[in-house]
Amino acid sequence: MRQQNKYNQKVLISQEQIQESVHAMGERIAADYGDDPLTIIGCLKGSFIFMADLVRAIPRPLHIDFIEVSSYGNELSSSGNVRIVKDFKHPVQDSHVLIVEDIVDTGLTFDFLFEHIRLKKPTSLEIAALLVRSTVDLKKRPVKYHGFTIGEEYVVGYGLDAAGLYRNLNHVAVFEQ
Ligand code: PRP
Repeated sequence: MRQQNKYNQKVLISQEQIQESVHAMGERIAADYGDDPLTIIGCLKGSFIFMADLVRAIPRPLHIDFIEVSSYGNELSSSGNVRIVKDFKHPVQDSHVLIVEDIVDTGLTFDFLFEHIRLKKPTSLEIAALLVRSTVDLKKRPVKYHGFTIGEEYVVGYGLDAAGLYRNLNHVAVFEQ
């Protein structure tokens, strides 16, 4: 039987499962980039917990920056309109860039971030996402590093919110409206 959290939400991905996945991802990233300059850009707000754990699982020097974009606001479904709330600052022209996302859902934010960061001419550009919806076409939107594929559930926790709440859960749970 599935575990429930203290809000009677179904635990979809436990803290242990997340930690195991994040550590494996960090080791893979370190091996893939070797000693090349690497800048990690976390997409706020949703990525903040995943980002904090992932960068500590990558045993090498890194530049770290953040961009904040928004397409959902306080709504439960995407407005379809991605906008920059806060841009990243670190120059990436001679650096590999890895975007860190909590979730690739419709893929609109993925498209926006790739277009926006590519213009700054990084050496390479990839994305690490903890969660990817099963509906995402990975040929069209290649998510190089991803932890878990999820179905249609509305999920919260480990950075993901419902109307601004539940980001501070240490696991991913299903939010029932
Ligand atoms: C969420 C999430 C991703 C994006 C993914 O951000 O953090 O950035 O949606 O959705 P998409 O693939 O459909 O574009 P949101 O706009 O909710 O802001 P937040 O990170 O501040 O919660």
